[in-house]
Amino acid sequence: MNTTVNPNKALWEKGDFTRIAATMRESGETLVQKLGITKGLKVLDLGCGDGTTALPEAKLGADVLGIDIAQNLVEAGKRRAAKQGLTNLKFQEGDATNLKQVPDNSFDLVVSIFGAMFAPKPFEVAKAMVRVTRPGGRIVMGNWIPNDPTFVARLLKISSNYTPPPPEGFVSPMTWGIENNVIERFAAAGIPAERVSFTRDTFTFNFQGTPSAYVDEFRKYYGPTMNAFEAAEKQGRAAELQKELEELFNSQNKSQDATSIPATFLRVTVAV
Ligand SMILES: C[S@@+](CC[C@H](N)C(=O)[O-])C[C@H]1O[C@@H](n2cnc3c(N)ncnc32)[C@H](O)[C@@H]1O
Repeated sequence: MNTTVNPNKALWEKGDFTRIAATMRESGETLVQKLGITKGLKVLDLGCGDGTTALPEAKLGADVLGIDIAQNLVEAGKRRAAKQGLTNLKFQEGDATNLKQVPDNSFDLVVSIFGAMFAPKPFEVAKAMVRVTRPGGRIVMGNWIPNDPTFVARLLKISSNYTPPPPEGFVSPMTWGIENNVIERFAAAGIPAERVSFTRDTFTFNFQGTPSAYVDEFRKYYGPTMNAFEAAEKQGRAAELQKELEELFNSQNKSQDATSIPATFLRVTVAV
């Protein structure tokens, strides 16, 4: 039996990402509306979580497969699809670094919204996404941008200031938000730069509660923030981290009576 822990999988199975995903639904739907989805289009939603974008894709009539490395999120996605009677949406456990269960040229559209960016080995990920997309098809990625002044980049930056340095050779997921890196990765997968285009877009997180209560959701349920708090507690710095996050969430909140926080991301479109 193989008992080696995959830290990438363990990070996302930790806590309960569905609690955060529940605050991402409106922007997920808005984004899917922009993807030109038509009835019968074959769509792979990679790093799909519990289906924030996969469900709206299926509701537009696409034939959707959601793949995610986290078993608990795949199960949550299946429950959501069943509840909504979406028979054209399937979920499977799988790894974006190889997509080994997926045959070549299987999809018209591969969508990965803040998903594949979190897989290790970015060159392998680009290669796998290109391999499973049919010639003439498209890949659309949503990637957070390093050093961006908005919410998620700052949340991840603050968290990383409390966690031990990553192992040597680790490539930060945030590098998927740098255009030259994206071009280089798809070029290595055989896609020339002129077939990769970029646009900045906004994703808004909506939570029915105060910004401080939203920080608590991240502290209790979001793997990267949970890890940051565990590390901060060992250093006696948990209160400091809590304060930094509350300042961030409060300063970014646009709502008077709940929490609504916009975040800028890089939308990447690849013509395969
Ligand atoms: C920030 S969440 C986004 C989930 C979903 N796309 C959404 O917008 O709600 C990142 C997702 O990527 C998945 N993920 C991370 N590494 C992966 C990998 N190597 N292969 C497949 N999925 C992965 C995680 O399990 C998690 O569901």
